[in-house]
Amino acid sequence: MAQKTNPFENMLEQLDAAAEIAGLDKQDYITLRYPERELTVNFPVKMDDGSIRVFTGYRVQHSTVRGPAKGGIRFHPDVDMDEVRALAAWMTFKCAVVDIPYGGAKGGVTVDPTGLSQGEIERITRGYTAKIADFIGPEKDIPATDVNTTQQMMGWIMDTYSTLAGVYSPGVVTSKPVEAGGSVGRKEATGLGVFFVTRELAKKLNMDLAKSTVAVQGFGNVGSNAAKYLYEAGAKIVAASDVSGGLYCEDGIDIPALLEHVEKHPRRLIEGYRQDGIKTTDNHGILTCKCDFLVLAALENQITEEVAKEVQAKVVVEGANGPTTFAGDKVLEERGVIACPDILTNAGGVTCSYFEWVQNLQHHYWDLETVNSNLERIMVKAFNEVYEVADELKIPMRMAAYIVALKRLIAVQKIRGIFL
Ligand SMILES: NC(=O)c1ccc[n+]([C@@H]2O[C@H](COP(=O)([O-])OP(=O)(O)OC[C@H]3O[C@@H](n4cnc5c(N)ncnc54)[C@H](O)[C@@H]3O)[C@@H](O)[C@H]2O)c1
Repeated sequence: MAQKTNPFENMLEQLDAAAEIAGLDKQDYITLRYPERELTVNFPVKMDDGSIRVFTGYRVQHSTVRGPAKGGIRFHPDVDMDEVRALAAWMTFKCAVVDIPYGGAKGGVTVDPTGLSQGEIERITRGYTAKIADFIGPEKDIPATDVNTTQQMMGWIMDTYSTLAGVYSPGVVTSKPVEAGGSVGRKEATGLGVFFVTRELAKKLNMDLAKSTVAVQGFGNVGSNAAKYLYEAGAKIVAASDVSGGLYCEDGIDIPALLEHVEKHPRRLIEGYRQDGIKTTDNHGILTCKCDFLVLAALENQITEEVAKEVQAKVVVEGANGPTTFAGDKVLEERGVIACPDILTNAGGVTCSYFEWVQNLQHHYWDLETVNSNLERIMVKAFNEVYEVADELKIPMRMAAYIVALKRLIAVQKIRGIFL
């Protein structure tokens, strides 16, 4: 059996490779190889049947050099410290790539939320929040949604923190429902950002998005929204998958119909969707199907060395965090498959979270046009900066994105200096 890829080791390999290309000395970025703070919590939760279960959760603050730590919270059975550590580091680089004033963090609870009641999920969310409450705060560390965490759960985090602090603190967490201090456009922002980056890259590659084919792995928040915007731009979405399986249709999936199906499904899955000419396939079939753009929007370590050899897409668009292993990346590069890197591609989410936080701190709320036009401006600028470095140095976009981020991080680190 293939050895499990340690995502934090994967991140370090990417970081060191980029630093080497940029001619950086290890001393220049040594602090970024270590997370600043790590917290593990164990907390009891009363389940609906009266039993008590103890859950384990993590919160890692990788860097606060450029601003308060920022990053989502994941609920998943595979969550462990290595995963959270890697995801926290990627947040640091992502925020630096799009040049928003945040460091990086991530959190998670090791739990399979499938089959848990809303009440149980609320108590797990509140129990976790209470245990990390001293660690987070609007000026310290600001969580948000991630895999299997919802806007409603962010509302509970805001309420738990505000109650414990005795102060109304909407800015402690982002991706809240709009009624509770969330930003309009936040739910769609990551997928919309994926679309902006894909559109800009298509232009550079002289590919007509309206004549392109797309496969989407992961039809959750990021994947379904990316699919929606790409479909609206005329792209043909030939494949889509989620945890329940995959769908393939050479003539293109009717995305509005699939979105409606998912909306009505009790677990928001594509399972059971029917359309003429549609076939079912598995995860491997999605990753290796014939298409122009393969949008990855599920979990990390999907494009391994072996899978990379079979990828037929021209471009791999990383909506998910860390979906390509270091070895997989090398194979894609050798085969001329372009990888549009996560720390640029999916940065629309944290960028809109930044807008939400600014609105919360000012108690002044924006309209959708203001949110989306600012998002587009920031994403297109970041894309062009990364693309220019890649083009000038003739390096993959991932390395270019790290170099853009590293330069920003190192500049601030030098000004701040080392305490003691
Ligand atoms: N939500 C955000 O704002 C945001 C921002 C940046 C990055 N991301 C990243 O994007 C990815 C997806 O996050 P999300 O918020 O859309 O989560 P989500 O829970 O809404 O969706 C995840 C999707 O992946 C599917 N999935 C899980 N395992 C799978 C498998 N083995 N094969 C195929 N599909 C599978 C799930 O069924 C679901 O459809 C994660 O890597 C996350 O860290 C999310």
